[in-house]
Amino acid sequence: MILVAGSANLDFVVRSPHIPAPGETVLGRDFKTFPGGKGANQAVACSRAGGVPTHLLLALGDDAFALPLEASLQAAKVNLHIVRSKTLATGIAFICVSDAAENAITVAPGANHCLQLIDLPPLDGFTHLLLQLEIPLDVVTAYARAARARGVTVVLNAAPAQHLPHEFLALIDVLIVNEGELAVVANFSGSIAQCLALVDVPCVIVTLGKHGCCARADGVYLLQPAFDVTPIDTTGAGDTFCGVLVAALSEQESLQQALRMASAAAALACTRFGAQSSIPTLDEVAAFFGNHANATDAQHAELMKFCGFNFPTG
Ligand code: RIB
Repeated sequence: MILVAGSANLDFVVRSPHIPAPGETVLGRDFKTFPGGKGANQAVACSRAGGVPTHLLLALGDDAFALPLEASLQAAKVNLHIVRSKTLATGIAFICVSDAAENAITVAPGANHCLQLIDLPPLDGFTHLLLQLEIPLDVVTAYARAARARGVTVVLNAAPAQHLPHEFLALIDVLIVNEGELAVVANFSGSIAQCLALVDVPCVIVTLGKHGCCARADGVYLLQPAFDVTPIDTTGAGDTFCGVLVAALSEQESLQQALRMASAAAALACTRFGAQSSIPTLDEVAAFFGNHANATDAQHAELMKFCGFNFPTG
């Protein structure tokens, strides 16, 4: 059983030709709201990946913005542990999605910041705890410590990026970061290989957008080139990756197979609008595999070069 503890936001999304620079006004279009928040998105991804039941600890305001969030999570069959704030509003995110499918996101956490250690449900029966950094770091640390003490595998998606103390990283079993987050966690700007060598977590996975992803687990390096799709909105693709990866690991899949499934699901998510609305089911991922060939040796070689690996990979 998987427990996700983290944020839920209502996403206010506008599409525009490009992401505005500081001080610039852009005429956008197609305003829409979507259920989002990194914690909630990852819980939906775990649940849609099938297999083991997914629970989500989240905090919401006592307001109308909470309603579509609860409805989306319930539709995805996520078991909810809701902390209801009487004083803080449900979290929201302002998102601009460009025609090149890139996004810029500003989050107002609101009720997400009222989660406390006391809210963590009993950990009996949970094998994995999946955390992100949209709730306060001291609370994330306390959850990780409680899970570690109960032998629950602690997975951290270190997003949004922030410097992380060694004592906190020592509680993490699996770290998932993108290239920018890796540089912040490693506190170094160099190649992926150089940064990876500096992060003292047993398993580190780095998502690399259109290049794919790589991982270092117990001294072995793995590569998974990206699946070829035409993206329209990358919002929630990283969350899809994290949720599907943890679902696969909790079902005893190998790390290489988990990377493959997570990459395919994230690629599919990029071809749809919104965060939770873009996350595929297990059947959709299976159908995607039927239409997309495995990576070629040339793609592996290219990804190896991109990462700065000059040694054998698994
Ligand atoms: O990772 C995407 C998510 O980041 C959005 O859904 C938004 O709510 C922010 O949390």
